[in-house]
Amino acid sequence: MGDKKRIGILTSGGDCAGLNALLRAVVHRAAGYGWEVYGIAEGTLGLMESPPRAELLDPATFDGTIMRRGGTILGTTNTGNPFAFPQLDGDPIDRSEEVIANYRSLGLDALIGIGGDGSLAILNRLAKQGGINFVGVPKTIDNDIGVTEISVGYDTAVAVATEALDRLQPTAASHRRVMILEVMGRDAGHIALNAGIAGGADVILIPEIPYRMEHVVRKIRGLYDSGRNFALVVVAEAVPNESGNRIVQKYAGGQSRYGGVGHFLGDRLAETTHAEIRVTVLGHVQRGAAPNARDRLMASVFGVHAVDLIEKGQFGRVVAWRDRHVVDFDIDDAVAAPAVVDIDGPIVRTARGLGICLGDQ
Ligand code: F6P
Repeated sequence: MGDKKRIGILTSGGDCAGLNALLRAVVHRAAGYGWEVYGIAEGTLGLMESPPRAELLDPATFDGTIMRRGGTILGTTNTGNPFAFPQLDGDPIDRSEEVIANYRSLGLDALIGIGGDGSLAILNRLAKQGGINFVGVPKTIDNDIGVTEISVGYDTAVAVATEALDRLQPTAASHRRVMILEVMGRDAGHIALNAGIAGGADVILIPEIPYRMEHVVRKIRGLYDSGRNFALVVVAEAVPNESGNRIVQKYAGGQSRYGGVGHFLGDRLAETTHAEIRVTVLGHVQRGAAPNARDRLMASVFGVHAVDLIEKGQFGRVVAWRDRHVVDFDIDDAVAAPAVVDIDGPIVRTARGLGICLGDQ
């Protein structure tokens, strides 16, 4: 047992399944040391107000009910970078010193930040600038944080996308259709590749492997010629069109996000295969589900380890899962480069071994 400490915790970046399970783990592990945990509202946004928005998290309210819920009870933001915070006129300003001052006003001994690569990089920079005792925990459905084999939220997103394929297959077969499923993942094709294999896709297109439309067309024609009455295509949102441009949707307020490649592909395949095509864009359904067993488990493992790092006085670390063990790394290494699909790795080899078309042959 160390001295009584006050730990701050925030969730930052896009939400995903398992965040509440992670909060639960942190609150209970900290309570075991006799410490208090303060939940900061809406990521760094909660620290941009004076007084900051934070409340004591009562272990008694963190029972198994919270663990089962999707989303994050603290709220989060993926537009709250304090180093370039957008003003009403759209011009960004640096509000980092304000955030640090508000953090200090809470009298916290350490901060646990749950985020993806972007959020962890921002929090790491803030921590260095403000001398904050920081521990990072990786979460993202994209699973693109290099130091860890799995991030909280990823497994549930893959399960949701796999279930979508399970539901698309019978309706595809009933109508002799080609079903295209567009999934998230930002610049990494992990969700598409893993769910595509698990869900029996015939074609999987990921940003890491350049494709040629003629290969996709040949695969689909071949399936129908051999008597198949459906085809399933999974495409990751960052796969480019044939000119090499990634397709984005623009939202009010100037934000843009990947989206639309499924419909692009659908139009091109309708012209070239003459099959009936339908497109499903899975979107945020991949994020909002209740966490599956593996995400609840990883969230619990990461939460306990993060608190144990604080107990040992080890800061500037990010927790990770490697080779069946929970470990931790220097956070600078964790945010160095996103981990995309290894095109020579076992999962790509498996897809090829199953005869799945990856668009390059
Ligand atoms: O990084 C998680 C993620 O869900 C990506 O897969 C996706 O491209 C993006 O966030 C969507 O962001 P938003 O929630 O702002 O629409």
